Amino acid sequence: MSLTITWYGHSAFGLEADGTTVLIDPYISGNPAAKTKASSLAANTILLTHAHNDHVGDTVAIAKRTGATVIATFELANYVESQGVRSVIGGNHGGTIRFDGGSTKFTPAWHTSSYADGEDIVAPGLPAGHVVRFGGKTIYFAGDTSLFLDMQLIAEEELDIAVLPIGDHFTMGPADAVKAAKMLRAGAIIPCHYNTFAPIKQDPQQFKRDVEAATASTVVVLEPGASATL
Ligand code: NI
Ligand code: MN
Repeated sequence: MSLTITWYGHSAFGLEADGTTVLIDPYISGNPAAKTKASSLAANTILLTHAHNDHVGDTVAIAKRTGATVIATFELANYVESQGVRSVIGGNHGGTIRFDGGSTKFTPAWHTSSYADGEDIVAPGLPAGHVVRFGGKTIYFAGDTSLFLDMQLIAEEELDIAVLPIGDHFTMGPADAVKAAKMLRAGAIIPCHYNTFAPIKQDPQQFKRDVEAATASTVVVLEPGASATL
């Protein structure tokens, strides 16, 4: 079985296997790095890491159009449901939720979580990461987070791929992401959450050199809109 992973820029990814698609944090409209339109994306399942607008993005519109099931931490799931999405599953840290073709296990993430809905700030809940089993692979999406030592436990999930933020400022930066890669021992590392906005400008090729010098992992640097089959 092969798994195709597509980066839409920032923290927005798609996973495709056997004709089934999972979107993660589909921030497309207003994403300066996105090369596609939200209205062109297929989805069976949408996984959210937290409520920030640069992660929830187009979730409600895509879910309404496609009928995709949205999986998020409990309070954010309730908010998404309140916006008229019919198929929503709320989970929480440590829990595994099954979906069409796979599953996800919520991990902790050190970050904050809020959603600006016009003038209102709503739907906090807690941020999370996801350990996704799909397409014959195990993929860790760290979400927005700092470095934390419990990544040693996440390594016990035997990761094929770890998707890590490297932008700094709002999340860990490249030096801490190298430390994360050392703990996670994934086959491949994919950096994200960089070069979308000025405060998170980073050099992913330097990150690749640093990780590959310090670990046995291969770093896959994607361009926004590009896919890798793993
Ligand atoms: Ni965030
Ligand atoms: Mn973010």
